[in-house]
Amino acid sequence: MKELDFYKDKRVFVTGHTGFKGTWLCHILLEAGAAVSGYALEPEAGLYEQTGLDRRMHSVIGDVRDEAKITAALTEARPEVVFHLAAQALVRRSYREPALTYTTNVVGTVNILEAIRRMPSVRSFVNVTTDKVYENREWFWGYRENERLNGLDPYSNSKSCSELVTGSYREAFFDGADSTAVSTARSGNVIGGGDYSEDRVIPDCARAVRAGREILVRNPGSTRPYQHVLECLYGYLLLAERQYADRSFAGAYNFGPGEESCVRTGELAALFCEAWGDGAAWRVQEDEGPHEANYLKLDCAKAKEVLGWRPRWAVKTAVEKAVEFAKLDTDTERTACLGRQIKEYFV
Ligand SMILES: NC(=O)c1ccc[n+]([C@@H]2O[C@H](COP(=O)([O-])OP(=O)(O)OC[C@H]3O[C@@H](n4cnc5c(N)ncnc54)[C@H](O)[C@@H]3O)[C@@H](O)[C@H]2O)c1
Repeated sequence: MKELDFYKDKRVFVTGHTGFKGTWLCHILLEAGAAVSGYALEPEAGLYEQTGLDRRMHSVIGDVRDEAKITAALTEARPEVVFHLAAQALVRRSYREPALTYTTNVVGTVNILEAIRRMPSVRSFVNVTTDKVYENREWFWGYRENERLNGLDPYSNSKSCSELVTGSYREAFFDGADSTAVSTARSGNVIGGGDYSEDRVIPDCARAVRAGREILVRNPGSTRPYQHVLECLYGYLLLAERQYADRSFAGAYNFGPGEESCVRTGELAALFCEAWGDGAAWRVQEDEGPHEANYLKLDCAKAKEVLGWRPRWAVKTAVEKAVEFAKLDTDTERTACLGRQIKEYFV
């Protein structure tokens, strides 16, 4: 994994390290030889504990809305690189708990930016947002980084706000030659082993087949940029490295899949059934759920041109890798599978 050499012996701080993406990211960083610290809420039963990450890194359990606590954790860790992933990340929950979603995703971002602007050790900061930050125009083309930010539902909108806050701090407080390089990363709908979230397609499929139930899919006609979790994490890692060396790389970047991987949700469920085998099948669930966009794609020309980032695993491979993981029964097997997929992905 020579391409991760930059991270050897670097002090790296990850918020949201107990979540799905955070756990994968910390395993990559540990594999690369980084000294990793994390800050998040108590882990829910899931990948973090299954893969024994709690025993391999320094973990602080706390709320990003608690400014004093997050500041103390950052001060103690003295990181050189910070990845901000902690968030209330579920659309449906954001309809039930909008205030919690906004305070976590917006005030939490402010608290971290406040802390790092007083910390000269931090040279590179990446705020992880989402493909849903754009004002959705229901068109067929991918959104570019310079398009209007205005997510519709409370989750998406809170992430648009987090983008705006980060952009403002970059201009107002991180504009000196020695300032921290501050970026945002907008990635697609992520697939991968160890995602047990509610209301996400692949976790819903895996739960159903493991319980011997038929798979029910809401909004099968919605097109989404589906990608393996390692695809966007590779983007975040590359961005943090580039801007650490040269802060002119700082800005907003899309990290989405190629055109062929922007598929309808029904096609994704069909790919899952094909990869799972054993007669797995899906059908449409009629459901008066909250509004969902029909089309959502990202234009990733900037990440390709400026950073040299490229998608490596198309959606079919991404689903196969998630299924490989979902079929496992023991934590030892899951930990080995995660490590193997990281080694297959990075060169
Ligand atoms: N999974 C996806 O498809 C996807 C797509 C685009 C963007 N993202 C973004 O990536 C990031 C990680 O997503 P994920 O899928 O791993 O989510 P997740 O729900 O699995 O993990 C969320 C993490 O944030 C932490 N967290 C939540 N509220 C917190 C609080 N108040 N204080 C401290 N920590 C808190 C949790 O403890 C957990 O560690 C999020 O910012 C999310 O918006 C996810």
